[in-house]
Amino acid sequence: MNTFRGYLFLLLLPPFLSGCLNDKVIINKEAARSIIPKPVSLEMGSGSFSLSPQTVVYAPDSLGEIASYLVKTLLNPIGEELSIQPMGPGNSPSGILLDTRTDLGEEAYNLSITSEQVHISGGSQKGIFYGIQSLRQILPTLIQHSAPQAYELPVLEIQDEPRYPYRGLHLDVSRHFFPVDFIKRFIDLLAFHKLNVFHWHLTDDQGWRLEIKQYPKLTEIGAYREETLVGHYRDQPHKFDGKRYGGFYTQEDVKEVLAYAAERQVTVIPEIELPGHALAAISAYPELACQPGEYKVGTKWGIFEEVFCPTDYTFEFLENVLGEVIDLFPSPYIHIGGDECPKVRWEESAFCQNLLKQEGLSNELELQSYFIKRIEEYVNSRGRRIIGWDEILEGGLAPNATVMSWQGITGGIEAAEQGHDVVMTPTSHVYLDYYQGDPENEPLAIGGNLPLEKVYAYEPTPEELDEKEAQHILGAQANLWTEYIPTGEKAEYMVYPRACALAELVWTPKEGKDFIDFTQRLEYHFSRLDDLGVNYAKTFYNVTALPLPDSANKQLQVELKRNSQQAEIRYTLNDEVPGPESSRYEGPIALDQTQTLKAISFLEGKPVGATLEKTFQVSLATAGIPKLKNMPSEKYNAGPFVLTDGVVGTDIFNDLWYGFDGEDFEATIDLGEETPIKRLGFGVLHTPFAWIFYPSQVEISISQDGENFESVFSAEDPKATVEGTPIKRKEHAVTLEGKSARFVRFFAKNTIIPTWHGGSGRNSWLFVDEIYVE
Ligand code: ACM
Repeated sequence: MNTFRGYLFLLLLPPFLSGCLNDKVIINKEAARSIIPKPVSLEMGSGSFSLSPQTVVYAPDSLGEIASYLVKTLLNPIGEELSIQPMGPGNSPSGILLDTRTDLGEEAYNLSITSEQVHISGGSQKGIFYGIQSLRQILPTLIQHSAPQAYELPVLEIQDEPRYPYRGLHLDVSRHFFPVDFIKRFIDLLAFHKLNVFHWHLTDDQGWRLEIKQYPKLTEIGAYREETLVGHYRDQPHKFDGKRYGGFYTQEDVKEVLAYAAERQVTVIPEIELPGHALAAISAYPELACQPGEYKVGTKWGIFEEVFCPTDYTFEFLENVLGEVIDLFPSPYIHIGGDECPKVRWEESAFCQNLLKQEGLSNELELQSYFIKRIEEYVNSRGRRIIGWDEILEGGLAPNATVMSWQGITGGIEAAEQGHDVVMTPTSHVYLDYYQGDPENEPLAIGGNLPLEKVYAYEPTPEELDEKEAQHILGAQANLWTEYIPTGEKAEYMVYPRACALAELVWTPKEGKDFIDFTQRLEYHFSRLDDLGVNYAKTFYNVTALPLPDSANKQLQVELKRNSQQAEIRYTLNDEVPGPESSRYEGPIALDQTQTLKAISFLEGKPVGATLEKTFQVSLATAGIPKLKNMPSEKYNAGPFVLTDGVVGTDIFNDLWYGFDGEDFEATIDLGEETPIKRLGFGVLHTPFAWIFYPSQVEISISQDGENFESVFSAEDPKATVEGTPIKRKEHAVTLEGKSARFVRFFAKNTIIPTWHGGSGRNSWLFVDEIYVE
C-alpha cells in the first residue's frame, strides 16, 4: 500500500469543480523542507499553487525532451499526462514553466512556486532536471492510482546548485549480475538524489558482463562461472553452491540503459578491468595470459594471480574491446581499472623480463605503468580520457589520467599535487559493501564499519591541498562491490539510506551540512522511498550502546543512541524483550555489575529496527586505565579504556580490540588498595587471514607493591600456530582462593607466523580485549 505519511487531505471538492478528481492533497511545508540533498537556499512563502491534470506545461521547443520527461514523471503523482505547449519569449502564462537562464551554472536551477506558476529555470537541461527532482520530492512519489489526483503545492523559492561536478555511484555486476530493469531503477534512484554518474563495473575475475562482437567467447565462456562461494571468504574451509551462475548485457541492453540514463542526465562510465582482475577474460581467451593453461572463471572472491600479459596480442585485444566500448558509451571517461594487479606472472615470464629490458623499465611496477600508458594512448586517440583506481600512480601516472582514490585519500592527494583530476572514493567513508550497523543485526557483509553518520561526515576535498590543487577534486563516489550482494533487494539495502548521505556531501555546500537536520529530513524522505518500494536499511532506528567509563569514580555508564529523532528508546536490564511500557531511555544508565542491556526504538508505539542486546562485563578492572608496556598500533587503539570499557571484543576484529603489530602485550592495573581477588581473566583473538594469531604464551601475576609480582596463572597455547584453528575469541582465566592484591598484570606473548601462512617468519598481530578482576 502507498503511504500518505506527511500529507494532509482536503475534504472533497464539489463534484462540478472537481471533475473526476477525488480528494485534493495539500502538500505540507515539511515535504519541501525535507528535500535530499538539501538545497543551497529554500524560502517558504504563503499561499499555494493548484496542480491538477488540467495544468499545462509550457516550454520552448528546445526543451521538448525535458518537458516530456517532466510529464512522464508527474504521471506518478497525478495519474494523467499533462499537456505541453510551446512558450514564446516574454510569455508568462499560469502553469508549469520551463526555461534556461544564462546567468545560472550548467547544473544550477531555480524552482519558484507562486500561486500562479511553478517556474523551473536551469542553466541547461541538466539544471532543469534537478529542479524537476526537487519538485518530484515535494510531491508524493506514488506509483499507482485509482483516479487522477490534484495537489496544493506550497509557495516557495529554491535556488540551488551542486558543490561538486562529479557525484557518483558504482555497481559491481561481475561478482553478481543485475538485470537491465534493476540497472534502470538504480539509475533512476541515483538521479532522484541528484547524483550524476553511474560507474558500471562490467568485468572482473568472476564474470565478464558485456557483449563484445569481435570476441564472442568473452560472454559465451567468460560470463559464466561453474559455482559460487557460499558464506564469507574468511570461513574455512571454503564451500561452494555447485550451481552455474552468470549473465551479461547485450549491446542492445546497453543502448537501452544509456538512453534511460541520458534522460536522467546521468553519465554512465563503463569499467573494463586491466591488467588485473582479468581471469574471466583469460578463461575465454587463454592467449591473454603469460603462461599457456586452462583457466576458469573465478568462483570465489579475492585477488587472482592470472593477469593480462603485456603482449602485442593482449594490446590488440584490449584496443578492439575498448574500441567497441567507446563506440557504445558516450562517456568522456573510460574506466580501465588498474587496481590489485599481482606481478608474479610477469616476474616468472621470460617475455615480460625481456620487455622490461627492451623498454628500459626497472621493475614490474613500471611495467604496470607502461601497460596503462599504452592503453591511455589508445583511449586518448579515440577522443576519450582514462580514469583508474589509485594503483595507477605506482610506477608513474599516465599523462592525462584521472585517479579514483580508494585506498584512503593519499592517492588522491598525490594525484592532485601532480596536477591530475581526482574522484574520491575512500574505503573508510564510501564503501557501501561495509557493514552499516552492528554485524550481529545486519545481513552478511564483507566487513568494515560504515554507519550513516560516517558517510555524512566525509569531506571529499583533503585539507592537505592548496586552493589550486583542490580544484582537481572533481567530487566523490560511493562503491558497491557485490561479493555478498546476490540480489537487487540486498543492493538497495546496502545503498540506501547511505547514498542519501553521499548525495548531500557532494551536492550541499559544506556550511549547509548538519547531521541532525539531515536525519530529520531523512525520516520524512523514507516515506518517498517507501512509495518507490526501495528496500532501504532500517538500521537508522537501531539502538547503539556507547560505554562511558568514568575512571575517577570507577564507574561505567552506558549511553544509548539512534539516528532517528522521532523514535524513543525503551530498554530493560532483566533479560526481557523491551515493550512500550519498559523504561524509557532519558540519559546514560549506570551499571554496577555485569548485566545484559536490551533496547529497541519505538515509533508511534510500535517497535522499529533491530533489538540491541549487549552484555556489559563489569568487574573491579572496569573503567580503570591500565598501564601498557607496549602501545597498540594506531589503527587498533581506540583510547585508554578499550580493555576496561565493559564491552568484550567479538570474533570480528575491529576497534573493540587492542591490536599489537609484532609486539607482546603487557598491561598492569592498579586497584587502588589491597583487594581480595577471586577470579582474573582476559581475551585474545585468532584471525589468521588478517595475520592475527593467538599468543604463544600467557601469564597473569599479582602484586601488593607493583614491583614484586607473583605468577598465579601461566599457559602455553599449542593452537596458536596450527593451521585450521578457527577464527575465535578465547578467554584465559584463573580462579583464586584466599588471595588479595593491589596490582594485577596481564601478559601475552606474540607468535611467529608459521610456515603454512603467507606471512611466514614474521611476528604476528596480537589482539587483546577485555581484562577483568573479580
Ligand atoms: C577496489 O576496491 N579494489 C578498487
